[in-house]
Amino acid sequence: MKETQIIRRANIKDIEQIINLANKEPYFKAEKEDETLCFWPKETLEQMTRTPDTSVFLVSETINNNQITGFVISQYWETGKKATFENAYLKPEHRRTGLYKQLGDAMIQELKKMGCQFICAFPETENSISTKSLSKNFGFAKGKTYHWMMKEL
Ligand SMILES: CC(C)(COP(=O)(O)OP(=O)(O)OC[C@H]1O[C@@H](n2cnc3c(N)ncnc32)[C@H](O)[C@@H]1OP(=O)(O)O)[C@@H](O)C(=O)NCCC(=O)NCCS
Repeated sequence: MKETQIIRRANIKDIEQIINLANKEPYFKAEKEDETLCFWPKETLEQMTRTPDTSVFLVSETINNNQITGFVISQYWETGKKATFENAYLKPEHRRTGLYKQLGDAMIQELKKMGCQFICAFPETENSISTKSLSKNFGFAKGKTYHWMMKEL
């Protein structure tokens, strides 16, 4: 049986563990030089922990041993009352256990408390697990299909 998980806001001390987990996850790695990196630099993650009004950055951890088992990250734009669901991750042994739903529901509750009225997510078309788990767990519906265009500044 899985140990009890607690869900809480991420803090700066968690960042090293989070980076180590993300580094092991193939999905977060850009395979070619011109591909967009799907994950964040350390400084950005640290900044998110200091800006709870614009970032909902939650972790799950195994009770009593401080081992992070997963995280979700969303960014909130207060003026537009809109959030983007940026990243979700669970350690492989915690997938398909219901923990993702708990983490995502907690994130949605936080966003609602902040006044958020709309959440968008942009799962890669190749990542069908991401698309399925967004619709099955949280009721995300597929919207229009857009091109991801980018320009470095
Ligand atoms: C995305 C992620 C957080 C989802 O968590 P999860 O615990 O695996 O997903 P859930 O158990 O909540 O899945 C919900 C549904 O998604 C689909 N799904 C999930 N994993 C699947 C798999 N390995 N194969 C096929 N379908 C799958 C199923 O429809 C599932 O419902 P079911 O179990 O009733 O069949 C997790 O898979 C993960 O960390 N992946 C690596 C990082 C990543 O891709 N992040 C997303 C983009 S940032």
